[in-house]
Amino acid sequence: DDRAAVLGLESSCDETAAAVLRADGTILAEAVLSQEQEHSPYGGVVPEIAARAHLEHLPRLVAQVMAKAGLGYGDLAGVAATSGPGLIGGLIVGATLGKGIALAHGLPFVAVNHLEAHALTATLPGIVEGAVRFPYLLLLLSGGHCQCVAVEGVGRYRRLGTTLDDAVGEAFDKAAKLLGLPWPGGPALERLARQGDPAKVPLPRPLLGRPGCDFSWSGLKTAVAHAVARGAATEQARADIAAGFQAAVAAVLADRAAHALAMVPEATAMVVAGGVAANGAVRAALSGAAAKRGLPLVAPPVRLCTDNAVMVAWAGIERLRLGPTDELGHAPRPRWPL
Ligand code: KG4
Ligand code: ZN
Repeated sequence: DDRAAVLGLESSCDETAAAVLRADGTILAEAVLSQEQEHSPYGGVVPEIAARAHLEHLPRLVAQVMAKAGLGYGDLAGVAATSGPGLIGGLIVGATLGKGIALAHGLPFVAVNHLEAHALTATLPGIVEGAVRFPYLLLLLSGGHCQCVAVEGVGRYRRLGTTLDDAVGEAFDKAAKLLGLPWPGGPALERLARQGDPAKVPLPRPLLGRPGCDFSWSGLKTAVAHAVARGAATEQARADIAAGFQAAVAAVLADRAAHALAMVPEATAMVVAGGVAANGAVRAALSGAAAKRGLPLVAPPVRLCTDNAVMVAWAGIERLRLGPTDELGHAPRPRWPL
C-alpha cells in the first residue's frame, strides 16, 4: 500500500532526527536537531553528551513529525530506527523509543543499518534528477565513514574499499583543528581554502595510483601538522595549507573512485553521501572521475547527505517491502558492517 506511512528515527551520532514517509517515498514530515553546539566546546562528539541530548529531544521530535504528518501512531505501517553502527548510547535511545512505539501500537519494528540508509537515499523518488537504478557505486564520505560500496539492490551491498585509518571527514576536522578552525572543521576549511593557492604547499596524496580503492588519511594529516609548524602565522599561509589539503583530498578521492568504478563495470551512476559530499572541490573531482566513464555523479541534497531520519524511514519502507519484519529483539550494535 503506497499510502502506508513509516516513522523513522536517527540517533547514531550527533544528529537527533525523526521523519514520516509514505511508502511511495513522499516525505510527510521531517525534523533534524544538530548537537553541534553541545559538542563544539570539546572539539568533537562526546558520546555521553550525545546520548543524553537524544534522550532529551527525540520524543518531542517524534510528536512534532507525527502532528505535522497528521497521523496517529495507529495509522503507521511500521517504525524504523537506526540500530547501528554508531555510538551505543544514542543507538539505544532511538531503538528503544522506536520499539516502545511499535510495541504499544502493534506495529512492526525495523532495526535499520545506518550505512544501508545512506546507501539507499539516492533511490528515494524525486530527490535526485532522473531515477537512479541499481547497480550503482556509493561513496560514503562522512565524519565516521569512508568507504566505496557497490549497491546492487536492496539488501545487496558489496564493500569494495574502506579507510585504513581515519574517515575523510575526520581528516578534514583534524586538518581544520591544526589550522585553528572551530569544530566541525570541514565547512570552515572549505571557506578558508577559497583564499588559498593549492600549489603553494605541496602535500602527499596517500594511496594515489595504488590498486584497489582503500583510503588512508593519517599521513596527509601529519604533513599538514608539519606545514603548520613550518609557517602558518598569516591568514594567507593558513589558506594556502587549507587549499593544498583540500586539493590533495579531492585528487585522492577521484583516483580511488575511478578504481572503484572499474570494479563495478555495470554501474549506472556514482552516488555520494555523507557530510563531505557538501564540499565543492570534492564534488568537482568526483564528477570528473564519473564523467570519464560517461556516468553522472549523483548527490542528494545536503540535508539528505548528512545524518537524517528520512533515509532511515525509507530504508525501513524498503525492508518492509521485502517481507514481514519484526525486530523487537534486535540489540543495537556499535559495529555493524553492511
Ligand atoms: O555525514 P555527517 O554530517 O556526519 C557523520 O559523520 O556521520 O558528516 C560530518 C562530516 C564532518 O567531518 C564535517 O567536517 C564534514 O562532514 N563536512 C565537510 C563539509 N561539510 C561537512 N567536509 C568538507 N567540506 C565541507 N563543506
Ligand atoms: Zn551518517
